[in-house]
Amino acid sequence: MNVFEAIKKRRSVRSYLDKPIEDEKLNAVLEAGRLAPSAKNRQEWRFIVVKDSELRRRIGEAANGQSFVGEAPVVVVACGVVDGYVMSCGQPSYPIDVAIALDHISLAAVDCGLGTCWIGAFNEGKVKEIWGIPEEVRVVELMPIGYPAFQTVKEKNRLPFSKIVKQGHW
Ligand SMILES: Cc1cc2nc3c(=O)[nH]c(=O)nc-3n(C[C@H](O)[C@H](O)[C@H](O)COP(=O)(O)O)c2cc1C
Repeated sequence: MNVFEAIKKRRSVRSYLDKPIEDEKLNAVLEAGRLAPSAKNRQEWRFIVVKDSELRRRIGEAANGQSFVGEAPVVVVACGVVDGYVMSCGQPSYPIDVAIALDHISLAAVDCGLGTCWIGAFNEGKVKEIWGIPEEVRVVELMPIGYPAFQTVKEKNRLPFSKIVKQGHW
């Protein structure tokens, strides 16, 4: 599968088969995150891989009750190490870098026949408490990964190209 095919095929998956992910596949998907680019190559990302069913259930609770999150066989808790670094453009780099790594992960997952969903609706305090995540580390996103229970073929609902791409000026 080439990268355009993976981009087109990726969908938010909110229903997963009760089937474990082979270690080799999971490691390949996480490796795609490890290889992502980051500002100054700082690689502030850290990923907690959660397989334990009780901990997954608790993540679903912490994700504002989105129980499907904990129904995936693996949930990645994507963290950023915060040391106050801000790029000269004024943006802190860690959420951007963590997001790029997660995007690599979500596309590699498609190539492996797996589905994912970005989860930004969660209570960070609760997630940090479950894993004893240190103060200087932020939880940027959660990402369930698993075999999709069904394939969505619906067209992606996106703004038209002409609205989002400005040719040469705003
Ligand atoms: C940063 C971010 C946070 C998101 N948070 C959630 C979430 O908490 N729960 C959820 O079901 N979907 C969440 N989504 C998924 C979006 O709703 C979804 O990507 C969007 O509707 C487009 O659909 P698609 O992913 O199937 O292309 C999130 C997506 C992103 C990028």
